[in-house]
Amino acid sequence: MQIIKRVLKLTLPYRNRVLLALFLHALVIVTRLIGPMVTRSMVNDVIVGGNYDLIVRLCILIVALALARAGFGYMRVLIMERVSQSVAYDLRTGLYNHLQGMPYEFYDKNRVGEIMSRMTGDLEGLRDFLGNGIITTWDNFISFIGALIFMMFMSWQATVAILAILPVLSWTAFRFNSKIRPLFRQIREQDAVLNTRTQENIAGIHVVKAFVREEYEEELFRNDNQELMRKHLKATYIWSDYVPMMQVMGELGTPIVLLVGSYLTARGMMDLGTLVGVTGYIWMLTNPMRMLSNIINMLTRTVTSGEKLFYYMDLGPSIREDTDARSPSEFKGHVVFDNVSFAYGSNRVLKDISFEAKPGETIAVMGATGTGKSTLVTLLGRYYDIQKGRILIDGVDVRKHKLKPLRREIGYVPQETFLFSDSLEENIRFGRPDAGMDRVRQAAEVARADEFIEHMPQGYDTVVGERGVGLSGGQRQRTAIARAVLIDPKILVLDDSTSAVDMETEHEIQQRLNEVLKNRTTFVIAHRISSVKSADQILVLKDGEIAERGNHAQLMALGGIYHGMVMDQMTSAVGPGGGTDG
Ligand SMILES: Nc1ncnc2c1ncn2[C@@H]1O[C@H](COP(=O)(O)OP(=O)(O)OP(=O)(O)O)[C@@H](O)[C@H]1O
Ligand SMILES: [Mg+2]
Repeated sequence: MQIIKRVLKLTLPYRNRVLLALFLHALVIVTRLIGPMVTRSMVNDVIVGGNYDLIVRLCILIVALALARAGFGYMRVLIMERVSQSVAYDLRTGLYNHLQGMPYEFYDKNRVGEIMSRMTGDLEGLRDFLGNGIITTWDNFISFIGALIFMMFMSWQATVAILAILPVLSWTAFRFNSKIRPLFRQIREQDAVLNTRTQENIAGIHVVKAFVREEYEEELFRNDNQELMRKHLKATYIWSDYVPMMQVMGELGTPIVLLVGSYLTARGMMDLGTLVGVTGYIWMLTNPMRMLSNIINMLTRTVTSGEKLFYYMDLGPSIREDTDARSPSEFKGHVVFDNVSFAYGSNRVLKDISFEAKPGETIAVMGATGTGKSTLVTLLGRYYDIQKGRILIDGVDVRKHKLKPLRREIGYVPQETFLFSDSLEENIRFGRPDAGMDRVRQAAEVARADEFIEHMPQGYDTVVGERGVGLSGGQRQRTAIARAVLIDPKILVLDDSTSAVDMETEHEIQQRLNEVLKNRTTFVIAHRISSVKSADQILVLKDGEIAERGNHAQLMALGGIYHGMVMDQMTSAVGPGGGTDG
């Protein structure tokens, strides 16, 4: 009930229109309710009473009622459809915006396919309820109440007789509800599973094909698909067990009323017109009972869909801007990590990290894979909150910064390059949509992306990704660097972002970055010594702690992990035997 209430609340902005639609529909029902009274008059006054003048008037009334019913019904459909589409629109937009506001953590835990399933299937479920469900429920409710009143007015005995079936019907409906409800939930969940599988398979199709696992993937899909079918069928079986039962009980109304009515008529306690008229209400009274199963079915679907959607809506972003958050008047790019510890859930990744990066310095972060290098730099933009210590940017704790201005000052080239299926120009311009073409070109030059872009068939207008031109790994990385350079950040983060670029090009990019991004604090994560050699400070992480720090010369003198890495890379470059080949 809570969920249904909440779904209904979504229509609050359109309440006048909803009320109008309900009112119009009530009028439709009234025209139906008047029908049997006309019939009664027809029997009593015209056929039995011989008042033949009345017949024309009654016929006109019947036609007028039919016209009114059609007219009101038409308006009601238009209004309600408009409302349901508007609510769906609001919900879709609201949910989308809400999802944009969710932190990294949310996307670590929820899979794309599942989110998609919520955004489409569940949302459509709610829309359908708002478009048809409300009216169906209302229709049955008023028909029932109206028929009850009108019938009571004609013959209370017949009404009481027919109401005898009500408790049995309600009990059956209740049983039906409790059986089918968990299944609807399972169906929605299985649907999400299938969606996730499809999405991941398509996203990972290269891997699937490379490892010739198509059959395995098909098998997995088949199983999930079969499971979905099984659940649908199970719901159908429950449905088909109960629905005929409820229908038969509803149909019992007619013989009951006829028996009681004929008895009363024979005794002279009911006139013929009333007997005929009363039968006109049987359908209106029992149909809502029969429809009860449909309504429960629909409400149950709505509740399961609503639960899922509201679950997302209620997940507030765990990373929120402080109420007294502020932004420095000017960002300088001064970064201090003060005893920072961080864990993903219970998985401790960084322990007591302390260092200082002065504006304009280059900090290199090295270390074996999985030691927390990428994690360290994602903390700069407060994509996760740390458990211990503080991170100061320009003297202010990141938790006290206004989030968007802070993130705007960080040019982030993530380890996994992501480009939108849009033109190269728009991809580079992504962070500053108002930047002119000259800035796009300049950024591309710095990242050494200009050359390959100019060789593309449509140059900067070349569309990448879906249905567009494919790019090599190094080309993608350079485009991503250009995107970060364009925003002219105070802090530049290069997370392994030249790993797919040859050493010579990498060197050139570094040179150009030094020219353009003077006074920018730069974080470089890399495995190649050549990428980090010139850094002001090199941090070597080991098991989440800073094991060594200093510049190249100092670390070489130390003769520790860094020294070992340099030696390893030299011998592998030179090869065993020692001699160089120039
Ligand atoms: N989103 C996440 N949720 C939970 N754990 C994570 C997440 N990202 C990384 N980890 C874990 O945190 C640890 C550090 O990961 P991180 O990506 O920071 O390593 P890295 O040093 O960048 O490694 P690489 O050199 O391979 O890029 C790993 O053990 C990883 O399993
Ligand atoms: Mg990493």
